[in-house]
Amino acid sequence: MDKLVVHGGSPLDGPLTVGGSKNTALPLMAATLLAEGTSRITNVPDLRDVRTFSNVIRVAGPAVTFDAGTHTLTLDAATVNHPVAPYELVKKMRASFYMLGALMGRCGEAKVSLPGGCAWGPRPVDLHIKGMEAFGAEIELEEGYVQASAPGGRLDGGSFRLEPSSVGATINLLLGAVRARGGSRIENAAREPDVVRFGEALRDMGAQIDGLGTDTIEIQGVDRLEPTSFRNTPDRIELGTYMLMAATAAEPGRPVEIREGTHEHLGQDFKDCFAETGVDVEYTPETVTVTRPEHLRPVSIETAPYPGFPTDLQAQWTVLLALADGTATVTDTIYDDRFKHVPELQRLGIDISVEGNTATVEGGNPIKGAQVMSTDLRAGVSLVMAGMIADGTTHVLRVYHLDRGYEDLEGKLRRAGIDIHREEYEEFEEPARETVS
Ligand code: EPU
Repeated sequence: MDKLVVHGGSPLDGPLTVGGSKNTALPLMAATLLAEGTSRITNVPDLRDVRTFSNVIRVAGPAVTFDAGTHTLTLDAATVNHPVAPYELVKKMRASFYMLGALMGRCGEAKVSLPGGCAWGPRPVDLHIKGMEAFGAEIELEEGYVQASAPGGRLDGGSFRLEPSSVGATINLLLGAVRARGGSRIENAAREPDVVRFGEALRDMGAQIDGLGTDTIEIQGVDRLEPTSFRNTPDRIELGTYMLMAATAAEPGRPVEIREGTHEHLGQDFKDCFAETGVDVEYTPETVTVTRPEHLRPVSIETAPYPGFPTDLQAQWTVLLALADGTATVTDTIYDDRFKHVPELQRLGIDISVEGNTATVEGGNPIKGAQVMSTDLRAGVSLVMAGMIADGTTHVLRVYHLDRGYEDLEGKLRRAGIDIHREEYEEFEEPARETVS
């Protein structure tokens, strides 16, 4: 297995460049199944999750090729003749469940494995299933699989309210509804930029969708969608992660430039909280420049659906609070139990306690290098961040979690001034099964 070895204390100089979004690329890939023919997606990151989802799609029949050099994915969905997403692949990545909507939209039938557990507690898919039923699907659960079919081979369409709002369920319901016989309505729909870009891509393919970016999306089903080429958006969570790294690991007073991100996609809450810490931040359409202050102010955050503070940035925020002058809290209202990074950060000396869905961080304790284990993608990157500001050497084990969502993290950080490299190591304990993202 691989680990990242970080020698703390070398300042982050920058520049850093943001790649394509993982959480937008996956639904864009699912969308291409709806059109008979070859679609192309550019700016696709070279990540393990993209390769896993390519394999999930191949099982259904399409040919998928990825050119990592140009970050271009080509999907030939002329044939979709095996509408199945098997457990062996779905258990590796929850987003494989997008096959439910994609296959219902394309074939009017689907057999998709339930994703099972997640590294940080229950993450149900009940809304995906109930919503699909509301749109006319007949669904049975058999031997861990969702067996869905649309009478007459096509969904009717219908109305469904998501409670709570869900990114994944909004995407699945859109995939099903765009080729339904009639109209559909999704209430309390997700407004995340990932969903908006995905909906725009469906529109480019010929879908009729109104209300993207609002909490009510209306769809009028069409008979046919056409294959097309589209560009994936930059990864907003990668951008936010680099902003937090600049705020903690750069030399105070020395600006770090981050390129090719779209700052509007961060949501206003994150930007407001970030500015409140005392960092100087300048936004242009192509760059974000962050200057670390001498002292960071402790700012409490609470995660919420977009445009609220993203849950995918709360672990990284926790590390920023470890450097702040005082005490602040991190509350996750999306996931009650997303604190697997906390015991690992404690091993580095950070003073944190967790009660319910709130972590309290007392800033200012010395941070010292140690061996730590990444348990999921965002937890893993928070450990790398902490290693960058620790005294001594930090070994972040199980880097495969990071490879799911950050392309060439160590290469990008090394070129930006951080003393970090990857090493192989032997692990005696079998890793517990995890399904995240
Ligand atoms: N929920 C239900 N029932 C459902 C679906 C969701 O109760 O059927 C609940 C969830 O338990 C959660 C809330 O609704 O409390 C929101 O979950 P959502 O469905 O929006 O999450 P997701 O679609 O499974 C995506 C991202 C996650 C990100 C969340 C929240 C992808 C592939 N994954 O997951 O990203 O944390 O939205 O923004 O887009 C990551 O990238 O590290 C990651 C985990």
